[in-house]
Amino acid sequence: MTLGFALFGAGRIGRMHASHLSRHPDICFVSVFDVNQAAAQETAQRYNIHHAQCIEDVFSDTRVHAVLIASSTPTHIDLITRAAQAGKAVLCEKPIDLNIGRVEQCRQAIAAYSVPIQLGFNRRWDPGHRRLIEAIRQGEIGDIEQIVITSRDPCMPPVPFLKDSGGIFLDMMIHDFDLMRYILNEEPTEVIAIGSRLIDPEILKIDDIDSAMVLMRTASGKLCHINNARRACYGYDQRIEVLGSLGMLISGNRTATNVEHYHSGATTVREPLLTSFVDRYTEAYRLQLDAFVHTIKNGQPATPSFEDGRQSLILANAALASFKTGRPVCLGV
Ligand SMILES: NC(=O)c1ccc[n+]([C@@H]2O[C@H](COP(=O)([O-])OP(=O)(O)OC[C@H]3O[C@@H](n4cnc5c(N)ncnc54)[C@H](O)[C@@H]3O)[C@@H](O)[C@H]2O)c1
Repeated sequence: MTLGFALFGAGRIGRMHASHLSRHPDICFVSVFDVNQAAAQETAQRYNIHHAQCIEDVFSDTRVHAVLIASSTPTHIDLITRAAQAGKAVLCEKPIDLNIGRVEQCRQAIAAYSVPIQLGFNRRWDPGHRRLIEAIRQGEIGDIEQIVITSRDPCMPPVPFLKDSGGIFLDMMIHDFDLMRYILNEEPTEVIAIGSRLIDPEILKIDDIDSAMVLMRTASGKLCHINNARRACYGYDQRIEVLGSLGMLISGNRTATNVEHYHSGATTVREPLLTSFVDRYTEAYRLQLDAFVHTIKNGQPATPSFEDGRQSLILANAALASFKTGRPVCLGV
């Protein structure tokens, strides 16, 4: 059975999702809606799909079984709620929202509906990260003791662009909180965050930081460190290291090819790292969509779920509070 999909948002990430939706063998890409008419029109024309004129146009369309929400973050809650009420399955970009109160209200509003709601924590689907997680689940490194996640963007986006992002913890590190929770299979109970403005002093104007480190401990004593920087001059730096009682696993960076160059002046010279999240995680975005289609077709629970999105937001808020107060934040278990 082919599933009809509509896309909300034809911006930066929406256009990438549109390309995956158009090529998926089990998906019929039906329509796109964006408040920016020109953006929606361009996507509609490119894929020869319906240019929806309003949100209701999408939700009342019986050809649409599922919606992919890639519109700006403040729109997610309303679209998730309306999709659940209309009986459409949801794949929604992270974060659910920047305000935990609104997330709690949405959680209550959708509780009565049973449509699958999957969160766009795409990094769970990266083949390297997946292999690392499988190896952990299969006991290859024994009991987890420490996790170190490094996530650094290649370059600092313009500060006005970050103005409504929610800041480094809620917008950027939220991916890493999700990965950490998924790898650990256990919630942190203590969060300590520090941060700095090292890259662009303008970031102070939006009360944000550009460099952050977070330490966490779980009830059983496992330790986790996440570090984020808005700029790494050598490319998009994405690494996970997990130390266990029987060994260590690393899921590392990607270059365009795997060729290593050795010469008289250096050993192990490789190409530069990839420089965009779309290139680095292209398979992850595709596999995320595959997993969502599989979930709908097989009536399985969606993963990562709305609850995963909520828990990661709670951790991001704890990190922000710790950064602001200079104190550890304890979370209930
Ligand atoms: N998973 C990831 O790796 C990843 C990467 C980038 C962005 N994101 C998330 O994706 C979302 C979009 O980010 P972006 O970078 O593409 O932003 P963007 O600003 O480029 O695009 C957002 C689009 O949403 C449209 N929009 C606004 N209100 C709308 C509404 N009510 N209905 C339909 N469309 C509406 C805007 O006109 C715009 O075209 C954000 O929530 C962001 O956090 C996730």
